Amino acid sequence: MSTNRRYTVLAVDDEQGILHAIQRILRRDYEVILSSSPLSALEVIRKQPVAVLLVDQRMPEMTGVEFLRQARDIQPDAVRILITGYSDIDATIRAINEGQIFYYIQKPWEPDELRLIVRRAIEHYQLKKDNERLLEELRQANERLAAENLLLQREMEAEYTFDHIIGKSPAMQKVFHLLKKVIPTDVTVLITGETGTGKELVARAIHYNGPRKHKMFVSQNCASLPETLLESELFGHVKGAFTGATRDKKGLFELADGGTIFLDEIGETSPEFQKRLLRVLQEGEIHPVGSEKAIHVNVRVISATNRDLARAVQEGKFREDLFYRLNVFPIHLPPLRERREDIPELVYHFIRKYSLKMGKRITGIHPEALQRLRDYDYPGNVRQLENIIERAIVLADDGMAITPDLIEFPEIHTTDGAPFNGQGALQLKERVEQMERYFIERALQKNRGNISQTARELGLSRMGLHKKLQRYRIDLAKYKLD
Ligand SMILES: Nc1ncnc2c1ncn2[C@@H]1O[C@H](COP(=O)(O)OP(=O)(O)OP(=O)(O)O)[C@@H](O)[C@H]1O
Ligand SMILES: [Mg+2]
Repeated sequence: MSTNRRYTVLAVDDEQGILHAIQRILRRDYEVILSSSPLSALEVIRKQPVAVLLVDQRMPEMTGVEFLRQARDIQPDAVRILITGYSDIDATIRAINEGQIFYYIQKPWEPDELRLIVRRAIEHYQLKKDNERLLEELRQANERLAAENLLLQREMEAEYTFDHIIGKSPAMQKVFHLLKKVIPTDVTVLITGETGTGKELVARAIHYNGPRKHKMFVSQNCASLPETLLESELFGHVKGAFTGATRDKKGLFELADGGTIFLDEIGETSPEFQKRLLRVLQEGEIHPVGSEKAIHVNVRVISATNRDLARAVQEGKFREDLFYRLNVFPIHLPPLRERREDIPELVYHFIRKYSLKMGKRITGIHPEALQRLRDYDYPGNVRQLENIIERAIVLADDGMAITPDLIEFPEIHTTDGAPFNGQGALQLKERVEQMERYFIERALQKNRGNISQTARELGLSRMGLHKKLQRYRIDLAKYKLD
């Protein structure tokens, strides 16, 4: 019981003999303070916390009930016990009814009875304090979580604001115009365009700038999974629906309830899947694989394809009814070669992005380098331009501008077929090393200096990775810190 010694019991009685008896009985278990005057006892509780107040009803300065009423204003959490005589029964009952006391002890009391009642009072006090503490912890945790969520939300929103989508060309201005119209609605959108034209970027912008931004945006590439897996991914499944379904799994449609689902490469889906998807869109409900139950969902659907879906419909490769369901509001992203005027701004945008990311100061781009970038055809569109700039920044020296030699297009598109001379070969080796170093550092950063994970990701053995760290003098400790 010595653990309870941190709890204080304040006994108030004008009879010294009773006070000393109380002290004898309780001092082994609690900190006991004695007071023969209610007025000075009130002073005590103004100065220090007390778990239990044990007070006689009959005292010359004031009654026990009156004392406890005042004490309640000072320390509402202290458990109040009244010691009463037979004749005080009315006052006691009133005090109980008015919530002024928790317990009463009738005179003459037995030591065991006193011990028991005080112990209960302490437990009551403890419970109350624990609850308060837990509630406070919960409140703080909730607050932290809410703050973190808000932060994350802001980051996401910031990332998909319109200033991050570059495009002054008339073609892109038309896209922005359409976006502004469609964002506030729930209308189903089909985004078309070649690979790398920014279909996913636009889909996210629709979600994060619209009324659904506080709910989930989920994205599924429909070409990456076989039909049955895709169905269970999107619609969920119940335990035992197929081998390997060891538990119920929520589908992405359910996760995205209230939010947005992005169905990428919708043109690659099987007829069977198209049929199921059509039903979901028509009925607004999903049926998890292996379940009879229908789940109602409210999801905004955005789909994307780099195919000509209308033609696929004509050729019988895509369901016509599904096409009309998806194609309510089409947005077409033109290939980059058809809006070359956007190239310089994209180039500056990516220079900013990657120099910031790599902590390199890049002063600009050489006019000749920019001209080369403007002349190129970009079969991989904006993504390809982005990759070219990322690579150039890896290779560029700190404090310098991007020079034409740092711009490299894929083999078949290069104009100068000059063979490597000795000097060129040396440069190549250096560049490859720079690249290697960059990718190792990036992987280390991502995996917070975890050697095994980093090695696995890079396809190296742990030993191999260690050797490279030594060779490039990469300080592992740096990555473990942040
Ligand atoms: N207008 C733009 N402004 C800035 N960045 C862009 C723009 N368009 C595309 N990007 C960037 O290019 C990259 C590719 O874009 P995204 O993934 O959206 O293309 P996609 O059309 O979905 O390609 P795929 O068909 O191959 O999936 C992304 O990093 C994206 O941020
Ligand atoms: Mg994409």
